Amino acid sequence: MLNGKRILLIVAGGIAAFKSLELIRRLRERGASVRCVLTASGARFVTPLSLQALSEDRVYSDMFSLTDESEMGHIQLSRDADLLVVAPATANILARMAAGLADDLAATVLLATDKPVLAAPAMNVRMWTHAATVANVETLKKRGVTFIGPNDGAMACNEHGPGRMSEPEEIVAAIEAMLTQNRPLAGKRALVTAGPTREAIDPVRYISNHSSGKQGQAIASALARLGADVTLVSGPVALADPPGLRVVHVESADQMLAACLAAGAVDVAVCAAAVADWKSGRPAAAKIKKKQGAAPPALELAPNPDILATLSKPGAKRPALVVGFAAETENLVANALDKRKRKGCDWIVANDVSPATGTFGGERNTVHLISDKGVEDWPTMPKEEVAVRLAERIAGHLGRTRPAAAAE
Ligand code: CTP
Repeated sequence: MLNGKRILLIVAGGIAAFKSLELIRRLRERGASVRCVLTASGARFVTPLSLQALSEDRVYSDMFSLTDESEMGHIQLSRDADLLVVAPATANILARMAAGLADDLAATVLLATDKPVLAAPAMNVRMWTHAATVANVETLKKRGVTFIGPNDGAMACNEHGPGRMSEPEEIVAAIEAMLTQNRPLAGKRALVTAGPTREAIDPVRYISNHSSGKQGQAIASALARLGADVTLVSGPVALADPPGLRVVHVESADQMLAACLAAGAVDVAVCAAAVADWKSGRPAAAKIKKKQGAAPPALELAPNPDILATLSKPGAKRPALVVGFAAETENLVANALDKRKRKGCDWIVANDVSPATGTFGGERNTVHLISDKGVEDWPTMPKEEVAVRLAERIAGHLGRTRPAAAAE
């Protein structure tokens, strides 16, 4: 909770500004008060009236307004806050912060503050990866600015990649971690598998699936934000490694299992990877060539090890909590209940991956959490929010168990 905490929210000009409205609502629900500074370009995307209605406070935007300065000077604005949050943090405001400019109220407040600053970047992928932005972010990190996101995914400009502003729920979790030292998983170790596996047929061909690795990566990040020491074992994905955790890259299911076992004792294991069930029984050492007139070669398959079932086996090294996923296209809950029993894991996050749902590779997920307490239906939400909720549930559960080291 954020009872009594005072947030100064700086809304700059980006399409993601609409998410800041939801952010204000969620912060206030948690007991924080929110005061907004709106830049001139921010006002092109959201109106001062919307910010004012949601924050129930006046909105500040003009540095040279006599009324503003007499009622609340720009120095006082930052003094009266516990935390400054820049959301969306556009390439432009990050550049102005890095350069130390004071050319409008937002930049001046950011320059004048001695309070912690959290920035949630939002911009086109090329702007985010431009050397100038990379250098500005580096400079700001060195000066102590904390960053959340950006996330990877489809953007308003029809491009794809890192640049989407973090979801309000993720920003709230980051704010709570900064202001309340809310790190319930500090001292706990977590293992997360993510992405597809790739099973070689020959040196140039493989069997794989459409998993993007997004859900697993978001869970790993959410656990790390709550203080866990996280190892993410990831199959081949098109995402950048998330900051703040250990990432082990693997290709095949055999490699994924070996990396999981090498991670040592953990308190929680979350198997979100879409592991290929089969591999080629006899992968060819050289590229398989077509032979004129010959029938296509038959692919002989062999089963892959089941990583989730292996980690769930009872024993001294078993994590206190093992969470699996059930990717189903029919009879979702019934199949997931059966899978939980068969694999021996504690919880199953069941999701419908039928093509019509757009879950595989998409941004949102509709899941059901199955535990010994029964089946909980969660509403459809961004994968990052599923991750935050799951991490919070894991933290709640592990709060009641002994750490991995004690179980060894
Ligand atoms: N899993 C695993 N190792 C495997 C196969 C699956 O660790 N070789 C894990 C997945 O990470 C997931 C859970 O098991 O947490 C269920 O995966 P899913 O693909 O839904 O189930 P399968 O075991 O593959 O069963 P089926 O394909 O018959 O639905």
